[in-house]
Amino acid sequence: GKVAVLMGGASAEREISLMSGAGVLAALQGLGVDAHAFDPAISDLGELRRAGFARCFIALHGRHGEDGTVQGALELLGIPYTGPGVMASSIAMDKTMTKRIWRADGLSTPDWRLVSSGGETAQALAELGAPMIVKPAREGSTLGLTKVTDAAQCAQAYELAARYDPEVLCEQFIEGDETTCPVLGNGAAAQALPVIRIVAPQGNYDYQNKYFTDDTQYHCPSGLPQAEEAEIQRLVVAAYRSLACRGWARADIMIRASDRKPFLLEINTSPGMTSHSLVPMSARAAGIDYAALCLRLLANANL
Ligand code: DAL
Ligand code: MG
Repeated sequence: GKVAVLMGGASAEREISLMSGAGVLAALQGLGVDAHAFDPAISDLGELRRAGFARCFIALHGRHGEDGTVQGALELLGIPYTGPGVMASSIAMDKTMTKRIWRADGLSTPDWRLVSSGGETAQALAELGAPMIVKPAREGSTLGLTKVTDAAQCAQAYELAARYDPEVLCEQFIEGDETTCPVLGNGAAAQALPVIRIVAPQGNYDYQNKYFTDDTQYHCPSGLPQAEEAEIQRLVVAAYRSLACRGWARADIMIRASDRKPFLLEINTSPGMTSHSLVPMSARAAGIDYAALCLRLLANANL
């Protein structure tokens, strides 16, 4: 049947979603799938049923796309969709909610505070120590994120994050290797793909260095010792199961330089599928090309 590639949307990551969606659409069409772009910022989701779409590939990122709302609408419409369901999507969109569940399950994640002013941000810095990350609790692509080292930066860092989300999160910065690792599949069959190690200019893997410069180095194979790679893969599968994810997701992990301990930062339930994106890169290293990945995700779409 007809497939809708949901792309665009009204979130701050709209621009990235349009790039992800264009890639997915072209790949599916290249395989002969009757796939059409569908932008929920322009068209009513109810149209999907009226137009007879059999399945949706969710290539939306961020608010109203990755956060369980669109997933809930598709449940009501009875249309199978790619990726995690309502609850996992909604929890994963909220970094503090995610961290609370991981902590409860004994999975390592950096210490954090939720703050509601510049003053509280400075207080968090005093408690967590420098450097510290200040970021919106529910956002993606490093939008609104500041690494602070000094109390004088806290007011501005808070204001920037609060522009994206009234919930602002302060998190202990973990100095070390930046890595990411996708997971594919459901339940007991969930499996980690190869780990990617990211080396960004000046350690600054921000919006520009994620999507628009070619200055970031991606290592896949990661070059990490095999035991470390395996430990990360076990951790991300545990993190994925802990939130009851299904389909796919990609967890971001820092490995602390001092003792090589891995820390989960977050899990993305609608990972980027742009030409610079990480899941396609890791899948390719595992012998799954971009089009095969899209097809596999679509085949696993469920309600
Ligand atoms: N939030 C972006 C799209 C990602 O995690 O890939
Ligand atoms: Mg993210």
